[in-house]
Amino acid sequence: MKHSRLFFFCLGAVSVTLLVLYLSFTTVEGQSDDPYPPRPVPDRIILSWSDDPATTQSVTWRTDVSVKEAFAEIAPADPTPDFRSKATKITATTELLVTDNNAAHFHSLTFTGLQPETMYAYRVGSEDEWSEWFHFETAAATEKPFTFLYFGDAQNELKSMWSRCIRQAYSTMPNVDFLLHAGDLINRANRDEEWGEWFYAGGWIYGMKPSIATPGNHEYSRNLLGQRELSQLWRPTFTLPLNGPEGLEETVFYTDYQGTRFISLNTAAIYADKSTILPQVEWLDSILLNNPNRWTIVTHHHPVYSTASGRDNEEVREAFQPVYEKYGVDLVLQGHDHTYGRGYNLQFGASRKDKGPIYVVSVSGPKMYNLNFEEWLERAASNTQLYQIIRVDGERLLYEAYTTTGTLYDAFELRKKNDGSNKFVDMAPEDVPEIISIPERLRPEMTDEEVREYRQRFQEYKARNKGREGLEVEGLREVE
Ligand SMILES: [Fe+2]
Repeated sequence: MKHSRLFFFCLGAVSVTLLVLYLSFTTVEGQSDDPYPPRPVPDRIILSWSDDPATTQSVTWRTDVSVKEAFAEIAPADPTPDFRSKATKITATTELLVTDNNAAHFHSLTFTGLQPETMYAYRVGSEDEWSEWFHFETAAATEKPFTFLYFGDAQNELKSMWSRCIRQAYSTMPNVDFLLHAGDLINRANRDEEWGEWFYAGGWIYGMKPSIATPGNHEYSRNLLGQRELSQLWRPTFTLPLNGPEGLEETVFYTDYQGTRFISLNTAAIYADKSTILPQVEWLDSILLNNPNRWTIVTHHHPVYSTASGRDNEEVREAFQPVYEKYGVDLVLQGHDHTYGRGYNLQFGASRKDKGPIYVVSVSGPKMYNLNFEEWLERAASNTQLYQIIRVDGERLLYEAYTTTGTLYDAFELRKKNDGSNKFVDMAPEDVPEIISIPERLRPEMTDEEVREYRQRFQEYKARNKGREGLEVEGLREVE
């Protein structure tokens, strides 16, 4: 008797929960309040790698829960429409995700046994509803030139204001091989609407060009116990490598692409739980010790050196910098500070620039902070949305930062020597003034004294980098 009462109580509780969920996703007219509702037709289609980019390709997408069994079809791409008859059908893995706005099915699979340097056509869907056919190209099995786009924090106003950045980046370099996102892709970790905006902004680009993504602090939010947890959307959204330390799956990993090792570290996890530092450091050391690639590029969200005033990530610097310097990591691509900065560890003098790493902080979305003008900076910008085009070609690595309006803003080349060190060549355009404006949002909050101090720090920075003309103070409110 007691048990059956408990059973009916549980049944009632489940029914009420389901009703509340149903009502919260629909209005009385049956119309959804959700701006990005899942439907039977696939959306949020995104390529990534979980294995070798020369022979595999992973794809992830979303539908509503009516799609119980999902598939992809793939064939070598062909200019005739007849390629479709040669397509192979593969069944996806499907998982349910209930977000603040909806319940959805996320599907993923990995195409395996692909030929290197080959263009494939694929589509995803179910018996009733399919996506369009997309093209992608597998990587070469050996070292070959390639290009990728790097984006700092997108984070805010993704549909309205980040869209112009990713679209300008793609327009500047449509032959890019992949995209790299350095964390804070969205602002509130578990808001499905923001993920919907991130996909709206990038649209079909994600279906053609694979993404490497590392989480930022905004991909974390506090659970009911007050602990910081990775967004419940992160792992369903991406299919990333599982070659990192236990417990940090799909956030700490590496991918070897045509002679370059790309490493994602999870600095947001460090600030959620300090015990994640040591496993990451040990893992990093092990994969750098056994690294057959000519180049090594690391991405993580919190910067080793900060660009924004009042910020410093000592834990990140103490944990990872010694390992980077021990193995001569070439480039570290970061975000978090909503400003732009490029430089190196000054402690060992300019020769460190040739031994690596060069550190970059960038921002691609519209949220802006003030610069700190710290000594490590060699090129900086505030109040500017940027994207980066990075080309690796044999013994040369060309780095270019563009403003979101398509102007080349910063550039350098690393030339790899036989001993593994680099020759650093500064190629920043001298005729493009450094943009040091105070973001409109911050101006009313600053006192005259703070503005004066900001100007003073800029003048000192300008004096340190005196070789370069064209430094200008823009947008600084006049004070006595
Ligand atoms: Fe951020």
